[in-house]
Amino acid sequence: MNDYEIRCYKKKDELNWLDTHASVMVDSTAWWTVIHSKPEYDNEIIDLVVEQSDEIVGFITTELNSNVIDFIEDDYGFVWEFGIHRDHRGKGLGKKLIERTHQLMRERYDINKSIWFSQDDNAQQYYEKLGMNEIERHWQFSVKPSKKLKNKLLEKSFECWNMRGSCDIEQFKKVKENFELIKDDEALKPRLCIGYSYIPETGEK
Ligand SMILES: CC(C)(COP(=O)(O)OP(=O)(O)OC[C@H]1O[C@@H](n2cnc3c(N)ncnc32)[C@H](O)[C@@H]1OP(=O)(O)O)[C@@H](O)C(=O)NCCC(=O)NCCS
Repeated sequence: MNDYEIRCYKKKDELNWLDTHASVMVDSTAWWTVIHSKPEYDNEIIDLVVEQSDEIVGFITTELNSNVIDFIEDDYGFVWEFGIHRDHRGKGLGKKLIERTHQLMRERYDINKSIWFSQDDNAQQYYEKLGMNEIERHWQFSVKPSKKLKNKLLEKSFECWNMRGSCDIEQFKKVKENFELIKDDEALKPRLCIGYSYIPETGEK
């Protein structure tokens, strides 16, 4: 554990960060798009990496009160990116990244709540194992446009190949009746996305 360092992300890390991120994406169905540059966010972020022998082997990026969700009343950190390279898993590094993020959120902003969303089964099990609480679930999927819709879009010169979106659990039956779901693509096929809230105990009163 001693040769691992958790530190803040620096601009010079970008390519190394992207390489590690791409490698983590191979193992997880949480992502369905490729990232070619480090994403930027509207609000302040806490951006940490795990480094070993000058290589980034893990990362976590948390945005304060992200605009991506609108149903959480108090302040929180929204975790956009989280992963440990497969050669370094099972050493407690993921947990350490989460603990450090919460420590910094408390010190800098007096916030101790993080929000997580994932459509990856393993990640969901991991979040549950850490004691996170489920706050929401929905389906995410891609569909082929109907002939009628395709033609309508073509009138505006847009040849639509597929469309991506989400729906409430109760509405999924209706979506299946009305659209042709893409099921044969690992990245695009329908997946249950679960949201979690995490408030670790601090030992403080
Ligand atoms: C999820 C991930 C970050 C975990 O990292 P890690 O460093 O291996 O996890 P840790 O070593 O901190 O594990 C902490 C605890 O969770 C347990 N654990 C690890 N993976 C688990 C899983 N998939 N399900 C349930 N428990 C798990 C560990 O055994 C450990 O338990 P312990 O505290 O009782 O010893 C890593 O597996 C990963 O990068 N996965 C792919 C990327 C991904 O899915 N990211 C989330 C995107 S939303």
